[in-house]
Amino acid sequence: MKIDYTSYKDVKLKGKKVLIRVDINSNIDTEKMEIRDSPRIRALAPALNEHFKKSAVIILAHQSRPGKPDFTDLSLHAKEIEKEIGRPVKFVKDIFGEVATKAIKELKPGEVLVLDNVRKFEGEMKNYEDFSDAEATELIQKLFPLVDYVIVDAFGAAHRAHASIIGWPKMLAGPITDKELGALKKIIENPDKPMAMLIGGAKAIDKFKAMKYNFESDKLDYALCSGLTAVLIFEALGKNMGEPNHKIIAEDLEENHDMIKETYEKFKDKILLPVDLVIDDNGNRKIITVDEAETYNATTGDIGPQTVENFKEVIMKCKTVIANGPPGIFEMEVFRESTNKMVDAMAEATRKNNALTVIGGGEMGAAAAMSGKGDDVSFISTAGGAMLEILSGNDLPMIRALREKKL
Ligand code: 3PG
Repeated sequence: MKIDYTSYKDVKLKGKKVLIRVDINSNIDTEKMEIRDSPRIRALAPALNEHFKKSAVIILAHQSRPGKPDFTDLSLHAKEIEKEIGRPVKFVKDIFGEVATKAIKELKPGEVLVLDNVRKFEGEMKNYEDFSDAEATELIQKLFPLVDYVIVDAFGAAHRAHASIIGWPKMLAGPITDKELGALKKIIENPDKPMAMLIGGAKAIDKFKAMKYNFESDKLDYALCSGLTAVLIFEALGKNMGEPNHKIIAEDLEENHDMIKETYEKFKDKILLPVDLVIDDNGNRKIITVDEAETYNATTGDIGPQTVENFKEVIMKCKTVIANGPPGIFEMEVFRESTNKMVDAMAEATRKNNALTVIGGGEMGAAAAMSGKGDDVSFISTAGGAMLEILSGNDLPMIRALREKKL
């Protein structure tokens, strides 16, 4: 991946109207309609105050995907940003219509305006292969002439070739992208070994593929597999993990069964799988063996204590540890324990062994913050899927667009 862009630091932003496409996609408690915790907003806030205080700032971002319960407008995010930056933040429930256009035209240096969820625009999420098709969309045609500069800094969504990420005729990179690439460079190019990858959460097949790539390119020494990635592997090996687990990975399993099995056989000495799991027994943690998953036929929402010990032992002998996705469904109290313990182990590896420890993904980042140890690991990335793509050796659409459309 060739990194070659013009940065926000290369231009004078004082007094200018600047549109920043960021990724503040957050973990939302849909019952209370509250943002649980947003490391992405916390990463954005200092950048806004440090670099863009004298500009009129327009924030463009997404939340979730149409049809999902957490697909909301961005008023919640605007309030959260206001809290973090300590000055008023305006919000309009419009992206590029009359209301948004008027608000952008009236915006003064020092003011911040959040536009509505860009994924409400149906042309946004088309995964444009040809960047000029994205450039022709109404979103870009309407917004681009209204501002002096567009900064694309949605690092967490850098793997999406969406209109607002790759469609601008000219674009600058922002502070979050600068920081993230700086931290990930060492891991991409030349990680200190041994290196372990802790894999959890959803998007199991993508994580499995990133693991495979890193084994094949000889960067990775250990994969600590939990969550749905572990379910995927167990089922490819012929185990029945129960219907609630199975149905989530069924499609990926069917499409990739042989590849998963072959990869596992090839690298099994380096792959640690759970030896015990946790199910919810009326609000209590019930520890079960992997073989019992079929009998209980319930969601195995966390890894058990022996697995935590096994994973920790590996973490403590590594010089580089990268976590992508929490090992448990940490949003639920009953499944939170192992995530906290894994964050603790990474913090300990940083402190005692000077290991480079990186946590990726909005969810794992939120989990780290909730556990109170987030500051003790080397770096919390705002990227999950994008980080996986980078770790899989892929050129990211956002980085390519920044390169091809640099000022
Ligand atoms: C993320 O949280 O991974 C990014 O915001 C991208 O979101 P998406 O996976 O819905 O495209």
